[in-house]
Amino acid sequence: MFFFVIFLLGHCRCDNTYTFEQNITDFAVANGTVYVATYDRLHQMDNNLSLEHRKDTSTTTPHNTVKILVPFERNNSLVTCGTGRCGYCEVLELNDISKTVYDESLNIASIMPEDSSLAFLVNLGHGPESTYLLAGAVQREKKLRECGREGYLITLRNTEESQNGGIFSAMGNHGVQSIRSKGKGSVEFVDGYQLDSRVYLFLNLRDKTLPQIRVRVLWMEAKKSKDDTVESLRGLILECCEDMSRALLVSSAGARSTFLQLWAGVFTAGNNLDPNNTALAIFNFTQIIADGGRTNTDPDFAVNGQNTEQIQPVTVKPTVVVFRYSWMTSVASVTVGSWLVYFVGTGDGQLIKIAVDKALKTTCPIVLYKADDDRKISKMVLDPGDEKHIYVALGNQMRKVGVAQCERYESLTSCWNAQDPHCGWCASQNRCMFRDECSGSLWFSIPDGSVQKKMFSFQVDLSPSKEEVTVNVMTHLNEQHTGSPAFSCAFNTEQGNLCVGSGSVSPSHSCSCSFSTEKLPAAGLRVRVRISVGDQQVSEDWTLRNCSALVGEPTAGLCSDCVTAGCLWSHDTCTWMSEPPRTSQTEAMCQSYPSGQNISEPKIISVDPNEISFYGKNNVTLKGENLDQVTKIRIQDKMDCNPKESPVWNRSSGSLTFHIPSASKGVVTVCAVVPGGKCHGSAEITYRSLPSCGSLSPNSTWASGGRIVRILGSNLQFVDGVEHDGNQQTLNMNASSNGTGCYKTAASGDETVKSVRLKVANKTINCPPLTYHADPEFTSFTATPTGDDLRITIKKKN
Ligand SMILES: *[C@@H]1O[C@H](CO)[C@@H](O)[C@H](O)[C@H]1NC(C)=O
Ligand SMILES: *[C@@H]1O[C@H](CO)[C@@H](O)[C@H](O)[C@H]1NC(C)=O
Ligand SMILES: *[C@@H]1O[C@H](CO)[C@@H](O)[C@H](O)[C@H]1NC(C)=O
Ligand SMILES: *[C@@H]1O[C@H](CO)[C@@H](O)[C@H](O)[C@H]1NC(C)=O
Ligand SMILES: *[C@@H]1O[C@H](CO)[C@@H](O)[C@H](O)[C@H]1NC(C)=O
Repeated sequence: MFFFVIFLLGHCRCDNTYTFEQNITDFAVANGTVYVATYDRLHQMDNNLSLEHRKDTSTTTPHNTVKILVPFERNNSLVTCGTGRCGYCEVLELNDISKTVYDESLNIASIMPEDSSLAFLVNLGHGPESTYLLAGAVQREKKLRECGREGYLITLRNTEESQNGGIFSAMGNHGVQSIRSKGKGSVEFVDGYQLDSRVYLFLNLRDKTLPQIRVRVLWMEAKKSKDDTVESLRGLILECCEDMSRALLVSSAGARSTFLQLWAGVFTAGNNLDPNNTALAIFNFTQIIADGGRTNTDPDFAVNGQNTEQIQPVTVKPTVVVFRYSWMTSVASVTVGSWLVYFVGTGDGQLIKIAVDKALKTTCPIVLYKADDDRKISKMVLDPGDEKHIYVALGNQMRKVGVAQCERYESLTSCWNAQDPHCGWCASQNRCMFRDECSGSLWFSIPDGSVQKKMFSFQVDLSPSKEEVTVNVMTHLNEQHTGSPAFSCAFNTEQGNLCVGSGSVSPSHSCSCSFSTEKLPAAGLRVRVRISVGDQQVSEDWTLRNCSALVGEPTAGLCSDCVTAGCLWSHDTCTWMSEPPRTSQTEAMCQSYPSGQNISEPKIISVDPNEISFYGKNNVTLKGENLDQVTKIRIQDKMDCNPKESPVWNRSSGSLTFHIPSASKGVVTVCAVVPGGKCHGSAEITYRSLPSCGSLSPNSTWASGGRIVRILGSNLQFVDGVEHDGNQQTLNMNASSNGTGCYKTAASGDETVKSVRLKVANKTINCPPLTYHADPEFTSFTATPTGDDLRITIKKKN
C-alpha cells in the first residue's frame, strides 16, 4: 500500500516555518492570522504558519505585485493594492482572502514594482466613519501620463462607500488635499504609524540639489476632518550619528516607554563591509513635538504644493546609539515592564534582541535566531496576540521565533545572567520563565535603571577604631511578588561562621557582616557567602583582603586584586571602601595600568584566517612580536559582552596557534593575555555564515576511488576537509570562487552509496551522497600507427 502526502504547495511545512516558491515582498499579522505577499501571490496562514488560503494576484490582473497589505480588523477586510493595470486595489475578506469584496483600478500604491509604498489605517475619531487609509506612493510623471492617471505622493483615503467621495477617494471638502514634494527629489517610504492623536511618516528624500540624502519625519495631528489633518503637517530632519554619518534610513520602530515618545531607526552608511555600517539610534520626540510650531512650514514638503517659500530645515540628532552592526535591515520593538526591547534583523540572517532601560543603558545582545546561510531579514512583526513570538521574513521563508528562551536557563543565576528582561526566576515553580506564567509567586529578574554585570557585588570597609571589618553585600535583583520575601546572608570560612549572628537585612536587599580585624590574615580570607531570598539560595566565593596591605607600584595586577577584594581603587592606590562609590568598580578599569611584570609587551600583527564560519576554527595562526609569554587569547565582541578565552597551543616569539570557538555571526576582536591578566594588541575576526554543499559533480566514482569530484556550494573557503566514513580528504578551492572546490575520492572497496560531509571545525555539514561503481575491468588493448603517432584503443567490460 502506498501513501502519498500531498502538501498544498509541496514545500516544507515544518513547525513554525514555511518556505514559499517566491521571495516574500510584504506581510501583515491580524487576528491570529498571517497574510504574506510574494511576487504575484497572496497567502493566508494560521498562527503556526500553516497555509489556509492562497490567491494568485496576477490571474485577472497581469503583473500585479501587491505593494500594500493592510488588515482592517474592525471591518473584517484586508485592503491590498498592487502594480497591475496601472494600479489595482482589492478589498478581500479577512477570514478568506480568496473572496473579493470590492475592487477598483487605482494607483494608491506605487505602480512600479521597484518603488516603495506605504499604507496604514488612521483614526480621526471613534466611529467606523472616521477611519481613513494613509497612503504614500511614488508617482512617476511618465507612467501617470501613459496610464492617464492623476497621482498623489501622500493622501488620506476613505475606507467606506458612505464617506464623502466614496471608498478610496482622497477628496476633502475643497478638492483633494495631498502632501507633495516641493522639489524634484525622489521619495523612499520607510515606515509610518499613528500613536494616540499623531500620525507619523518616515522617509528618505533624495534630491540632486541637496548635499546628501535626507531622512525625514513628517507628522500630522489627527483632527476632525481629513483636510484639517493633512494641513497640520510638520516635519524634521533626522541625522545619524556622531561617530560616522549614516545618511539612509532602512527601518524604524516606534515605541512609547512609560513617559517618553521614543523612536528608533536603523541608519546605514551604505557599505556593509564596514562592521559599523549600520546603527540603531534612539530619538526622543517628546520635547520637540510638545514645542508646537507652525504647521505647513516644512522645507521639503507642502500641503497641495502651496507654500513654496524657502524654509530653514530643523535637524535632530539621536539621544543614543544602542547598537552597531555591519548590516541591519529591520527593527521591531516592544515594551517589557520599564524596558524597551528591540528586535533587530540582519542581512546575514540573524535575529538579535537588545534591551534598553529607563536610563537608555543597553543589555548585551541576545541572538534569538541565526540562519545557516546569508538570508536577509526583510521584515519582522511581533505577534500582536501575546507578544511572545515574532514573525520574521527571510528571503522566501517565513519563520515564527520566540521572543525569549527562558526555559534554557536552569538556575536563578543563569536566568539572571541571561540579562533578558522577558525572563525571571519563578520561585514557586523553580524555573526561569515569563512573568505572566509565574502567577501568585515571587519572580526575580534583572533590575532596571542600571544594567549590572553581576547579580551580587560586595565592598569591604574598616571601622574608625580599626578594630572591625565590615563586608557589605548588595543584590541586583528586581522582584515582583505577593508579600515580602525573607532575605538573609551567611558568611562562612574554613574555620566556620565568620560573623557573630547572621548578616543584617535591609529593605534594599543588601546585608552586611562585621568581624574583628584579627580574623583577617595578611594572605587574605576565603569566604563563601550564601544568600537566601525567599527559599532561593545562591552562593558565591570571595577572597577578602586587607585593603591597606595591597600596596606597591600601580600595576594592572594590584588594581585587579584590589577591585576583586571589594576594596576601593582610587588615585592609583588601594583603600578601604569608606563610602560606596557611585558605580561599582570592575576589573576592566585596571587594563590601563602596566602589567608590572618583566614581560615585553606582545604585539599582534595578523591573524590567519580572519574570516571564519560561526562554527569557529581550529589552529588559527596569530603572528606578532613577543608572543612567547602569552598565556591565552581573549575574544571579545564590540559591546564587551560574553568575553571568551582560548588556550594557546604552539607558540614562539613570532607566532602562536589557538582554537577560536563557535559564536554568532559578526565581528570580534582578539587580544593576547600575559601573566597578570593584561590583554595586549587587537585584531579583528569576522564570523560568517556556514558553508553549504549543494551538489557533487560527477556524483559517482569507482570502488578504488581516485576520481576528482567537484563540490558546488557556498562559503567553501571555511571548509577544513571532505569526510567519507571518517576518512578525510583535502578540499582544493577554486581560486576565483568560494562556491566551488574539488577533492579526490577515497577508495571504498565495493559498490555502495556513501555519505559525504564537509568538515568545519568540530562539526560537519552534509553533502548529497556519492555512488561507488565497481572498478572498470580492462580486457585488452590494440595499438594502431596513425601517421607519426600511435593510437591506443583500450577495451573494458561494459
Ligand atoms: C468596510 O466595510 C463596509 C461595509 O461592509 C464596506 O462597504 C467597505 O468596502 C469596507 N471597507 C474596507 C476598506 O474594507
Ligand atoms: C593591614 O595592613 C596594614 C599595612 O600593612 C597593617 O598596618 C594592618 O595591621 C593590617 N590590618 C590587618 C587587619 O591585618
Ligand atoms: C628584566 O629582564 C631582563 C632580562 O631577563 C633583565 O636584564 C632586567 O634587569 C629585568 N628588569 C627588571 C626590572 O627586572
Ligand atoms: C605544534 O607544532 C608541532 C611542530 O610544528 C606540530 O607537530 C604539532 O602538531 C603542533 N601542535 C599543535 C597543538 O598545534
Ligand atoms: C574542538 O574540540 C576540541 C577538543 O574538545 C577543543 O579543544 C576545540 O576548542 C574545539 N574547537 C572549536 C572551534 O570549537
